[in-house]
Amino acid sequence: MRISRQCSLASSVVSAAISAQGLRRTYGDVVAVDSLDLDVAEGEVYGFLGPNGAGKSTVVRMLCTLASMTAGSASVAGYDVAKQGDLVRLSIGVALQDAALDGKLTGRETLTLQGRYYGLDRDAVVTRIEELAPLLEMDAIDRRVSTYSGGMKRRLDLAAALMHNPEVLFLDEPTTGLDPISRAVVWEQVRSLNRDLGMTIFLTTQYLEEADALTHRVGILNHGLLVAEGAPDELKRTVGSDVVVARVAANPDLAAQAIGQVPGISHIEVYGNEVSAATGDGASVISPVAVALSAAGVEVTDLSIHPTTLDDVFLELTGARIEVEE
Ligand SMILES: Nc1ncnc2c1ncn2[C@@H]1O[C@H](COP(=O)(O)OP(=O)(O)OP(=O)(O)O)[C@@H](O)[C@H]1O
Ligand SMILES: [Mg+2]
Repeated sequence: MRISRQCSLASSVVSAAISAQGLRRTYGDVVAVDSLDLDVAEGEVYGFLGPNGAGKSTVVRMLCTLASMTAGSASVAGYDVAKQGDLVRLSIGVALQDAALDGKLTGRETLTLQGRYYGLDRDAVVTRIEELAPLLEMDAIDRRVSTYSGGMKRRLDLAAALMHNPEVLFLDEPTTGLDPISRAVVWEQVRSLNRDLGMTIFLTTQYLEEADALTHRVGILNHGLLVAEGAPDELKRTVGSDVVVARVAANPDLAAQAIGQVPGISHIEVYGNEVSAATGDGASVISPVAVALSAAGVEVTDLSIHPTTLDDVFLELTGARIEVEE
Protein backbone atom coordinates (compact mmCIF):
# COMPACT_ATOMS: atom_id res chain seq x y z
CA MET A 1 0.00 0.00 0.00
CA ARG A 2 1.16 3.52 -0.76
CA ILE A 3 0.55 5.13 2.60
CA SER A 4 3.46 7.52 2.63
CA ARG A 5 3.11 8.92 -0.85
CA GLN A 6 3.90 12.62 -0.63
CA CYS A 7 3.49 15.08 -3.42
CA SER A 8 1.96 18.44 -3.04
CA LEU A 9 0.82 20.57 -5.91
CA ALA A 10 2.98 23.39 -4.63
CA SER A 11 6.21 21.42 -4.74
CA SER A 12 6.10 20.38 -8.37
CA VAL A 13 3.35 19.33 -10.65
CA VAL A 14 4.56 16.28 -12.43
CA SER A 15 2.96 13.89 -14.85
CA ALA A 16 -0.73 13.62 -15.60
CA ALA A 17 -2.73 11.36 -13.29
CA ILE A 18 -5.69 11.56 -15.66
CA SER A 19 -5.61 12.54 -19.26
CA ALA A 20 -8.17 12.31 -22.02
CA GLN A 21 -8.20 13.29 -25.66
CA GLY A 22 -11.36 13.65 -27.69
CA LEU A 23 -13.36 11.64 -25.17
CA ARG A 24 -16.87 11.09 -26.47
CA ARG A 25 -19.88 9.01 -25.47
CA THR A 26 -23.22 8.84 -27.18
CA TYR A 27 -26.36 6.94 -26.24
CA GLY A 28 -28.36 6.68 -29.46
CA ASP A 29 -28.94 10.28 -30.50
CA VAL A 30 -27.94 11.65 -27.10
CA VAL A 31 -24.42 13.05 -26.98
CA ALA A 32 -23.62 12.62 -23.29
CA VAL A 33 -19.95 13.64 -23.62
CA ASP A 34 -18.70 15.54 -26.63
CA SER A 35 -15.02 15.48 -27.52
CA LEU A 36 -13.52 16.19 -24.14
CA ASP A 37 -9.83 16.90 -23.49
CA LEU A 38 -8.66 16.62 -19.92
CA ASP A 39 -5.39 16.81 -18.02
CA VAL A 40 -5.32 16.32 -14.28
CA ALA A 41 -1.92 16.47 -12.61
CA GLU A 42 -0.72 14.07 -9.93
CA GLY A 43 -1.68 15.44 -6.52
CA GLU A 44 -4.41 17.67 -7.91
CA VAL A 45 -8.01 17.90 -6.74
CA TYR A 46 -9.99 18.48 -9.91
CA GLY A 47 -13.71 19.14 -9.91
CA PHE A 48 -16.36 18.77 -12.57
CA LEU A 49 -19.13 21.24 -11.98
CA GLY A 50 -22.27 21.13 -14.05
CA PRO A 51 -26.06 20.87 -13.95
CA ASN A 52 -28.11 17.67 -14.18
CA GLY A 53 -27.42 15.81 -17.40
CA ALA A 54 -24.20 17.69 -18.19
CA GLY A 55 -22.29 14.42 -18.63
CA LYS A 56 -20.35 14.34 -15.35
CA SER A 57 -21.17 10.76 -14.36
CA THR A 58 -20.60 9.52 -17.90
CA VAL A 59 -17.05 10.91 -17.84
CA VAL A 60 -16.39 9.29 -14.47
CA ARG A 61 -17.75 5.97 -15.68
CA MET A 62 -15.58 6.00 -18.80
CA LEU A 63 -12.41 6.95 -16.89
CA CYS A 64 -13.10 4.18 -14.37
CA THR A 65 -13.60 1.60 -17.14
CA LEU A 66 -17.28 1.17 -16.24
CA ALA A 67 -18.54 2.54 -19.54
CA SER A 68 -16.97 2.27 -22.96
CA MET A 69 -15.93 5.28 -24.99
CA THR A 70 -17.61 6.00 -28.28
CA ALA A 71 -14.43 7.79 -29.41
CA GLY A 72 -11.23 9.21 -28.01
CA SER A 73 -8.63 7.89 -25.62
CA ALA A 74 -7.80 8.28 -21.96
CA SER A 75 -5.22 7.25 -19.42
CA VAL A 76 -5.48 7.03 -15.65
CA ALA A 77 -2.47 6.57 -13.35
CA GLY A 78 -0.37 6.07 -16.47
CA TYR A 79 -2.48 3.21 -17.86
CA ASP A 80 -4.53 3.21 -21.02
CA VAL A 81 -8.20 3.04 -20.02
CA ALA A 82 -9.25 1.05 -23.09
CA LYS A 83 -6.30 -1.37 -23.20
CA GLN A 84 -5.17 -1.73 -19.58
CA GLY A 85 -8.47 -1.72 -17.72
CA ASP A 86 -7.29 -4.14 -15.01
CA LEU A 87 -4.31 -1.95 -14.11
CA VAL A 88 -6.51 1.14 -14.10
CA ARG A 89 -8.97 -0.55 -11.75
CA LEU A 90 -6.17 -1.54 -9.34
CA SER A 91 -4.94 2.05 -9.20
CA ILE A 92 -8.22 3.80 -8.54
CA GLY A 93 -10.92 4.08 -5.92
CA VAL A 94 -14.44 4.90 -7.03
CA ALA A 95 -17.49 6.10 -5.16
CA LEU A 96 -20.28 6.37 -7.70
CA GLN A 97 -23.29 8.65 -7.50
CA ASP A 98 -25.55 5.71 -6.65
CA ALA A 99 -23.68 3.62 -4.12
CA ALA A 100 -24.11 -0.05 -5.05
CA LEU A 101 -23.88 -1.66 -1.61
CA ASP A 102 -25.20 -5.03 -0.58
CA GLY A 103 -27.78 -4.37 2.14
CA LYS A 104 -27.39 -7.88 3.56
CA LEU A 105 -23.76 -7.27 4.54
CA THR A 106 -22.67 -5.28 7.56
CA GLY A 107 -20.45 -2.24 7.17
CA ARG A 108 -17.43 -4.20 8.40
CA GLU A 109 -18.12 -7.08 6.01
CA THR A 110 -18.43 -4.63 3.11
CA LEU A 111 -15.06 -3.08 3.90
CA THR A 112 -13.43 -6.45 4.52
CA LEU A 113 -14.63 -7.83 1.20
CA GLN A 114 -13.34 -4.79 -0.58
CA GLY A 115 -9.98 -4.97 1.19
CA ARG A 116 -9.60 -8.68 0.45
CA TYR A 117 -10.47 -8.06 -3.19
CA TYR A 118 -7.51 -5.72 -3.39
CA GLY A 119 -5.20 -8.22 -1.68
CA LEU A 120 -5.07 -6.79 1.86
CA ASP A 121 -4.51 -9.42 4.54
CA ARG A 122 -6.69 -9.71 7.66
CA ASP A 123 -4.49 -7.43 9.78
CA ALA A 124 -4.23 -4.81 7.08
CA VAL A 125 -8.01 -4.80 6.77
CA VAL A 126 -8.42 -4.23 10.53
CA THR A 127 -5.86 -1.43 10.50
CA ARG A 128 -7.43 0.21 7.49
CA ILE A 129 -10.90 0.16 9.03
CA GLU A 130 -9.46 1.87 12.11
CA GLU A 131 -7.81 4.49 9.93
CA LEU A 132 -11.07 5.14 8.13
CA ALA A 133 -13.08 5.39 11.36
CA PRO A 134 -13.60 9.18 11.02
CA LEU A 135 -15.72 8.48 7.94
CA LEU A 136 -17.70 5.68 9.52
CA GLU A 137 -20.17 5.45 12.34
CA MET A 138 -18.35 2.80 14.29
CA ASP A 139 -21.43 2.11 16.47
CA ALA A 140 -23.17 0.89 13.33
CA ILE A 141 -20.27 -0.90 11.66
CA ASP A 142 -21.60 -4.36 12.58
CA ARG A 143 -25.14 -3.59 11.52
CA ARG A 144 -26.53 -4.56 8.15
CA VAL A 145 -26.13 -1.85 5.52
CA SER A 146 -29.88 -2.07 4.79
CA THR A 147 -30.43 -0.32 8.14
CA TYR A 148 -28.11 2.60 7.27
CA SER A 149 -29.34 6.08 6.39
CA GLY A 150 -28.52 7.47 2.95
CA GLY A 151 -25.67 9.55 4.37
CA MET A 152 -24.19 6.57 6.23
CA LYS A 153 -24.27 4.53 3.03
CA ARG A 154 -22.46 7.25 1.10
CA ARG A 155 -19.74 7.45 3.70
CA LEU A 156 -19.36 3.68 3.85
CA ASP A 157 -19.09 3.62 0.07
CA LEU A 158 -16.36 6.27 0.21
CA ALA A 159 -14.52 4.29 2.90
CA ALA A 160 -14.76 1.18 0.70
CA ALA A 161 -13.25 3.13 -2.21
CA LEU A 162 -10.33 4.04 0.07
CA MET A 163 -9.61 0.59 1.49
CA HIS A 164 -6.64 -0.06 -0.83
CA ASN A 165 -5.37 3.52 -0.59
CA PRO A 166 -5.77 4.19 -4.30
CA GLU A 167 -3.53 6.44 -6.30
CA VAL A 168 -6.44 8.23 -7.95
CA LEU A 169 -9.84 8.65 -6.32
CA PHE A 170 -13.03 9.30 -8.28
CA LEU A 171 -15.98 10.71 -6.37
CA ASP A 172 -19.24 11.26 -8.23
CA GLU A 173 -21.26 13.83 -6.28
CA PRO A 174 -19.86 12.70 -2.95
CA THR A 175 -22.01 14.97 -0.84
CA THR A 176 -25.33 15.13 -2.67
CA GLY A 177 -28.07 14.47 -0.14
CA LEU A 178 -25.76 14.61 2.87
CA ASP A 179 -26.57 16.71 5.91
CA PRO A 180 -24.12 19.54 6.75
CA ILE A 181 -22.25 17.46 9.33
CA SER A 182 -21.71 14.50 7.00
CA ARG A 183 -20.74 16.92 4.25
CA ALA A 184 -18.09 18.46 6.50
CA VAL A 185 -16.73 14.98 7.32
CA VAL A 186 -16.39 14.15 3.62
CA TRP A 187 -14.78 17.51 2.85
CA GLU A 188 -12.24 17.03 5.61
CA GLN A 189 -11.46 13.53 4.36
CA VAL A 190 -10.93 14.76 0.81
CA ARG A 191 -8.66 17.54 2.03
CA SER A 192 -6.57 15.27 4.21
CA LEU A 193 -6.23 12.53 1.56
CA ASN A 194 -4.88 15.11 -0.80
CA ARG A 195 -2.80 17.07 1.69
CA ASP A 196 -1.32 14.16 3.63
CA LEU A 197 -1.07 11.45 0.98
CA GLY A 198 -0.92 13.52 -2.17
CA MET A 199 -3.85 11.54 -3.57
CA THR A 200 -5.19 12.78 -6.89
CA ILE A 201 -8.93 13.33 -6.59
CA PHE A 202 -11.43 13.77 -9.38
CA LEU A 203 -14.82 14.78 -8.09
CA THR A 204 -18.06 15.88 -9.61
CA THR A 205 -20.48 18.20 -7.92
CA GLN A 206 -23.50 20.38 -8.41
CA TYR A 207 -22.50 22.46 -5.42
CA LEU A 208 -20.64 25.65 -6.21
CA GLU A 209 -19.26 26.02 -2.73
CA GLU A 210 -17.95 22.46 -2.85
CA ALA A 211 -16.02 23.15 -6.04
CA ASP A 212 -14.77 26.38 -4.49
CA ALA A 213 -13.76 24.82 -1.20
CA LEU A 214 -12.12 21.61 -2.39
CA THR A 215 -10.68 21.89 -5.84
CA HIS A 216 -7.45 23.27 -7.19
CA ARG A 217 -9.05 23.47 -10.60
CA VAL A 218 -12.56 23.10 -11.84
CA GLY A 219 -13.95 22.20 -15.24
CA ILE A 220 -17.41 23.55 -15.94
CA LEU A 221 -19.36 21.05 -18.00
CA ASN A 222 -22.53 21.78 -19.94
CA HIS A 223 -24.23 19.49 -22.47
CA GLY A 224 -21.15 17.26 -22.60
CA LEU A 225 -18.76 20.11 -23.35
CA LEU A 226 -16.18 21.77 -21.17
CA VAL A 227 -17.18 25.44 -21.27
CA ALA A 228 -14.51 26.72 -18.88
CA GLU A 229 -11.61 25.39 -16.88
CA GLY A 230 -9.32 26.92 -14.29
CA ALA A 231 -8.80 27.67 -10.63
CA PRO A 232 -12.11 28.80 -9.09
CA ASP A 233 -10.78 32.26 -8.25
CA GLU A 234 -9.29 32.66 -11.70
CA LEU A 235 -12.64 31.79 -13.32
CA LYS A 236 -14.48 34.22 -11.08
CA ARG A 237 -12.06 36.99 -11.94
CA THR A 238 -13.03 36.66 -15.61
CA VAL A 239 -16.51 37.86 -14.62
CA GLY A 240 -15.58 40.59 -12.13
CA SER A 241 -15.30 40.79 -8.37
CA ASP A 242 -18.99 41.45 -7.60
CA VAL A 243 -22.39 40.82 -9.12
CA VAL A 244 -25.34 43.13 -8.65
CA VAL A 245 -28.64 41.27 -8.95
CA ALA A 246 -31.91 43.07 -9.59
CA ARG A 247 -35.16 41.09 -9.40
CA VAL A 248 -37.88 42.90 -11.23
CA ALA A 249 -41.66 42.56 -11.36
CA ALA A 250 -41.66 42.80 -15.17
CA ASN A 251 -39.59 44.00 -18.13
CA PRO A 252 -36.22 42.43 -17.32
CA ASP A 253 -34.90 43.48 -20.74
CA LEU A 254 -35.71 47.11 -20.03
CA ALA A 255 -34.01 46.73 -16.63
CA ALA A 256 -30.93 45.26 -18.34
CA GLN A 257 -30.84 48.20 -20.73
CA ALA A 258 -31.05 50.69 -17.85
CA ILE A 259 -28.34 48.92 -15.83
CA GLY A 260 -26.16 48.80 -18.94
CA GLN A 261 -25.96 52.60 -18.93
CA VAL A 262 -24.31 52.65 -15.50
CA PRO A 263 -20.52 53.15 -15.68
CA GLY A 264 -18.49 50.31 -14.17
CA ILE A 265 -20.81 47.47 -15.28
CA SER A 266 -19.04 44.90 -17.46
CA HIS A 267 -21.46 42.10 -18.34
CA ILE A 268 -25.21 41.79 -18.00
CA GLU A 269 -27.22 38.58 -18.04
CA VAL A 270 -30.98 38.19 -17.93
CA TYR A 271 -32.32 35.00 -16.38
CA GLY A 272 -36.08 34.94 -15.89
CA ASN A 273 -37.02 38.04 -13.92
CA GLU A 274 -33.50 38.41 -12.63
CA VAL A 275 -30.88 40.72 -14.11
CA SER A 276 -27.27 40.06 -13.05
CA ALA A 277 -24.64 42.71 -13.68
CA ALA A 278 -20.95 42.02 -13.15
CA THR A 279 -18.70 44.76 -11.90
CA GLY A 280 -15.29 45.35 -10.40
CA ASP A 281 -16.76 47.33 -7.52
CA GLY A 282 -20.28 46.47 -6.35
CA ALA A 283 -20.42 49.02 -3.54
CA SER A 284 -19.90 51.97 -5.84
CA VAL A 285 -22.38 50.93 -8.54
CA ILE A 286 -25.34 49.81 -6.45
CA SER A 287 -26.79 53.30 -5.92
CA PRO A 288 -26.43 54.37 -9.56
CA VAL A 289 -28.09 51.04 -10.55
CA ALA A 290 -31.04 51.77 -8.26
CA VAL A 291 -31.33 55.29 -9.68
CA ALA A 292 -31.14 54.03 -13.28
CA LEU A 293 -33.86 51.42 -12.69
CA SER A 294 -36.10 53.95 -11.03
CA ALA A 295 -35.56 56.47 -13.85
CA ALA A 296 -36.52 53.77 -16.37
CA GLY A 297 -39.74 53.10 -14.45
CA VAL A 298 -38.81 49.48 -13.64
CA GLU A 299 -40.44 47.99 -10.55
CA VAL A 300 -37.64 46.34 -8.55
CA THR A 301 -38.62 43.67 -6.02
CA ASP A 302 -35.10 43.05 -4.76
CA LEU A 303 -31.69 44.57 -5.31
CA SER A 304 -28.61 42.88 -3.90
CA ILE A 305 -24.89 42.53 -4.35
CA HIS A 306 -22.69 39.48 -3.80
CA PRO A 307 -19.11 38.43 -4.47
CA THR A 308 -18.91 36.56 -7.80
CA THR A 309 -19.64 32.82 -7.57
CA LEU A 310 -18.98 29.99 -10.01
CA ASP A 311 -22.70 30.08 -10.76
CA ASP A 312 -22.21 33.62 -12.11
CA VAL A 313 -19.41 32.26 -14.30
CA PHE A 314 -21.75 29.52 -15.54
CA LEU A 315 -24.53 32.04 -16.17
CA GLU A 316 -22.27 34.22 -18.25
CA LEU A 317 -21.02 31.28 -20.30
CA THR A 318 -24.30 29.49 -20.85
CA GLY A 319 -27.14 31.90 -20.04
CA ALA A 320 -28.44 29.44 -17.42
CA ARG A 321 -27.87 28.72 -13.76
CA ILE A 322 -26.61 25.49 -12.27
CA GLU A 323 -29.64 24.34 -10.40
CA VAL A 324 -28.95 22.43 -7.24
CA GLU A 325 -31.43 19.97 -5.84
CA GLU A 326 -31.32 20.34 -2.08
N1 LIG B 1 -27.20 4.53 -19.81
C1 LIG B 1 -27.70 5.59 -20.45
N2 LIG B 1 -28.59 5.45 -21.46
C2 LIG B 1 -29.07 6.53 -22.12
N3 LIG B 1 -28.74 7.81 -21.83
C3 LIG B 1 -27.87 8.01 -20.85
C4 LIG B 1 -27.30 6.93 -20.10
N4 LIG B 1 -26.44 7.45 -19.17
C5 LIG B 1 -26.49 8.78 -19.35
N5 LIG B 1 -27.33 9.12 -20.34
C6 LIG B 1 -27.63 10.49 -20.81
O1 LIG B 1 -26.40 11.17 -20.94
C7 LIG B 1 -26.51 12.52 -20.49
C8 LIG B 1 -25.49 12.77 -19.42
O2 LIG B 1 -25.83 12.02 -18.26
P1 LIG B 1 -24.92 11.97 -16.96
O3 LIG B 1 -25.55 11.00 -16.03
O4 LIG B 1 -23.53 11.76 -17.36
O5 LIG B 1 -25.09 13.47 -16.41
P2 LIG B 1 -24.66 14.10 -15.02
O6 LIG B 1 -23.93 15.37 -15.33
O7 LIG B 1 -23.95 13.10 -14.21
O8 LIG B 1 -26.07 14.47 -14.38
P3 LIG B 1 -26.53 14.45 -12.83
O9 LIG B 1 -26.06 15.74 -12.24
O10 LIG B 1 -28.02 14.43 -12.93
O11 LIG B 1 -25.96 13.24 -12.16
C9 LIG B 1 -27.95 12.69 -20.05
O12 LIG B 1 -28.66 13.26 -21.12
C10 LIG B 1 -28.40 11.27 -19.78
O13 LIG B 1 -29.78 11.14 -19.99
MG1 LIG C 1 -24.30 12.27 -12.39
